Amino acid sequence: MNKIKISPSILSADFSQLGNEIKRLEDGGADMIHVDVMDGHFVPNLTIGPPVIKALRSSTKLPFDVHLMISPVHKYIKSYAEAGADIITIHPEATDDLKQSINHIKSLGKKIGISLNPNTQIDIIREFLGEINLVLIMSVHPGFGGQKFIPEVLVKIKDLKKIKDQQNLSFDIEVDGGINFDNNKLVIEAGANILVSGTTIFKNNNGNIKKNIDTLKTI
Ligand code: DX5
Ligand code: ZN
Repeated sequence: MNKIKISPSILSADFSQLGNEIKRLEDGGADMIHVDVMDGHFVPNLTIGPPVIKALRSSTKLPFDVHLMISPVHKYIKSYAEAGADIITIHPEATDDLKQSINHIKSLGKKIGISLNPNTQIDIIREFLGEINLVLIMSVHPGFGGQKFIPEVLVKIKDLKKIKDQQNLSFDIEVDGGINFDNNKLVIEAGANILVSGTTIFKNNNGNIKKNIDTLKTI
């Protein structure tokens, strides 16, 4: 079983202390920082944009795993790359030309992720699986932290892992939404190697981040 990585979502952090919260996550053993960007259009919530990401960049050396829940996304990719994103994950529904957006992110020297909403099938990205670094499988409908995990996505994770193994591909399988101590084992056994979590990491065990991160990656 390859190493399980944890990408805590700062959506559940204290937004008045984001820099310190990122340092707490790094001290607690986070592998990367999941930054949920929402535009109030693609999803019914509005969070942060490039200026805040730029301001947070110096808080940590950890990779910024930036999840763009914005549309249209293509014309904004460069500003997130320049702000300090290391992984830029987009939703296929948010671009008119997925191939062009993938190439654009790569041309900026960033890792490229594609996110599949619970109702979006693998087929729409199958042709790109050999040229992307990460598939972000949403286990909630995007827009908010603290939602309930949708168990039906476990089949999608297994199907994706089967394709990855059959074609000997190297993309990471990251799962995002409602991940907790009751479903982390199921998600990892289904084939995920990166878990995103906000609520469980910041709220469980009286906010003991290290304990929560260690518990999520242990099965
Ligand atoms: C939801 C975001 C998720 C969310 C995860 O749209 O993409 O990253 O913040 O938060 P929890 O772990 O609380 O579901
Ligand atoms: Zn996310």
